[in-house]
Amino acid sequence: MIDFYANKEAWEEAFEHRHPGWGDENYKRLRNEKLPFFTPDVAQELRLINFKGKSVAQFCCNNGRELLSLMQLGAENGVGFDIAENIINQASDTAKKAGIDNCRFVACNIMDIPEQYYNSFDYIMFTIGAIAWFDDLERLFKKVSDCLRPGGTLLIHDFHPLINMLPIPGEPEFDENHLNKLAYSYFKKEPWIENNGMSYMSEKYPSKTFTSFTHTISDIINSLIQADMNIKKFNEYDYDIGISEAYNEKGFPLSFLLIAGKVR
Ligand SMILES: C[S@@+](CC[C@H](N)C(=O)[O-])C[C@H]1O[C@@H](n2cnc3c(N)ncnc32)[C@H](O)[C@@H]1O
Repeated sequence: MIDFYANKEAWEEAFEHRHPGWGDENYKRLRNEKLPFFTPDVAQELRLINFKGKSVAQFCCNNGRELLSLMQLGAENGVGFDIAENIINQASDTAKKAGIDNCRFVACNIMDIPEQYYNSFDYIMFTIGAIAWFDDLERLFKKVSDCLRPGGTLLIHDFHPLINMLPIPGEPEFDENHLNKLAYSYFKKEPWIENNGMSYMSEKYPSKTFTSFTHTISDIINSLIQADMNIKKFNEYDYDIGISEAYNEKGFPLSFLLIAGKVR
């Protein structure tokens, strides 16, 4: 079973090594832009949903930028959960600077969200690099289902599992002249073990260990079914949302949006 607290330490260390100014200016975009931090496709899908008066949560919210952005669509209140205490502090700080007072942030392991949050949310969202931190998706989605109100909705915008088959720039297997080369099994069972920092937020350094997992589309769908969730929408996009642009618009599904409803 995964050691969530080893990942917590690795994420908190990555925040300590963050790029200078990382996340510090997010409040300005939240004040001045419409739905910043979402891709145009996802922003369009979010606009189709009536969030007015609803209660929303983001699991693995990192520095809160996406949840705070979503609040523009009229939700009554929002709660962001993330295991990394120092990153959650940045989220609270950003909310304050952006003048968003109906959204708060809680530092905790998603699997340990206390019962006080059960049956609490109309919407729960995961975005970009969130579900990979859980080895057991069935347990994760059961937690989601516990926290959703009856009839509530789960939104997942994340990396498409196929991206895990592709070598990324910097890896020895990557060859920009042969972008159709697959390097890893779609069915990889062993975790990804990384000790080089978290490139999108920090410089490279010999870091504490990040442990993450590949999940296939069928893992995701079957785990949702086991958690009594109905799939309402599943979109695939041919562009990446955070690892590398090398494979964009080359015919690979690189990201997806899934919307599912709690059955009862
Ligand atoms: C890649 S980041 C999400 C980034 C965010 N979507 C964004 O684009 O700003 C993944 C987040 O998951 C959090 N995380 C990892 N394991 C977790 C767990 N068991 N419970 C709660 N948060 C977790 C990490 O602390 C990290 O902030």
